[in-house]
Amino acid sequence: MSEGVQTPPAFTKRVFSGIQPSGGLTLGNYLGALKRFAEVQEQDYETVFCMVDLHAITVWQDPDKLAHATRELCAGFIASGVDPKKSVLFNQSQVAEHAQLAWIFNTVARMGWMQRMTQWKDKAGKNTQNASLGLFAYPALMAADILLYHATHVPVGDDQKQHVELTRDIAAKFNHDYKVDFFPITEPVIEGAATRVMSLRDGSKKMSKSDPSDMSRINMTDDADAIASKIRKARTDPEGLPSEAEGLKDRPEARNLVNIYAALANQSVDQVLADVGGKQFSEFKPMLSELAVAKLSPISTEMARLMRDPAEIDAILRDGADQARAIAAPVLERTYEIVGMVR
Ligand code: TYM
Repeated sequence: MSEGVQTPPAFTKRVFSGIQPSGGLTLGNYLGALKRFAEVQEQDYETVFCMVDLHAITVWQDPDKLAHATRELCAGFIASGVDPKKSVLFNQSQVAEHAQLAWIFNTVARMGWMQRMTQWKDKAGKNTQNASLGLFAYPALMAADILLYHATHVPVGDDQKQHVELTRDIAAKFNHDYKVDFFPITEPVIEGAATRVMSLRDGSKKMSKSDPSDMSRINMTDDADAIASKIRKARTDPEGLPSEAEGLKDRPEARNLVNIYAALANQSVDQVLADVGGKQFSEFKPMLSELAVAKLSPISTEMARLMRDPAEIDAILRDGADQARAIAAPVLERTYEIVGMVR
């Protein structure tokens, strides 16, 4: 993470982040989250990462598929470079403290705060009366995830910024109401060229596992042919590539492909454009395909290998849950005391 990010004083520098096991992983999840998790793990932070299965069921999940998706997500973390020996890696439902602290935060958060969340509006759609209560309360559970570990920094994609800001509001209101300085005011960390990877078919929409068109996204399980074909068919405009970032203004599809290239190559957009400026997309797309296949194939191969031993994945998650509980339990206990509950 860059130097500009402030650590609240008196709290250990600790990163927390989570991903929902609600279907396959996309290139958006990789570039916006997993790749950055593997990087921050090597820096001066304690790192805690969670498969948020309690969040996933706020919209219907087929029980037969949820367990598979949770294991596959765990395989995705490890294959992307998150090392269970260096980071705590676990699934949310194994650490009951998440649901327990979320209840306290349900009493701190205000209805109006939840109603303003764009993810709530998007996911609930027009028929809010039929959305689950859990979907509405989702951000309070997310605040519990983060604050249970007194996390100071939360690396996420751009779409989660509003939820991390709400976490700050919940922490501040709790601290204020109970006259304590107990929860940190967490920083969202949204950095790099690919904090918002867009659909390959429509540069105004986020790349998402829930998009009905599989051509709109690159899945982390796609093989080389699928990746190449999706990039070849990705929407672009008739212009060639500019030599400077300014030239990508009002060209969302072109900007998206350059951002993806930059993130995969660990370069800045300016560096990429210095090299490819003046080329046509017919020349740039094969370069992007080659890079994407080189970076993503080893990950999908490793995911497939790990998935052949689900018992090993379960053992990693159980061990991670023990480590997570060791941090979370005292924080929950102290929260109950602050609230005035008899212990
Ligand atoms: P989720 O499961 O939708 O996505 C997981 C992570 O991937 C990022 N991401 C993207 N980044 C860039 N471009 C995209 N197209 C893209 N799509 C997804 C997300 O921003 C996220 O970082 N509410 C969270 C999960 C969560 C969580 C937490 C995150 C629950 N508790 C506590 C951080 C801390 C979510 O639904 O992410």
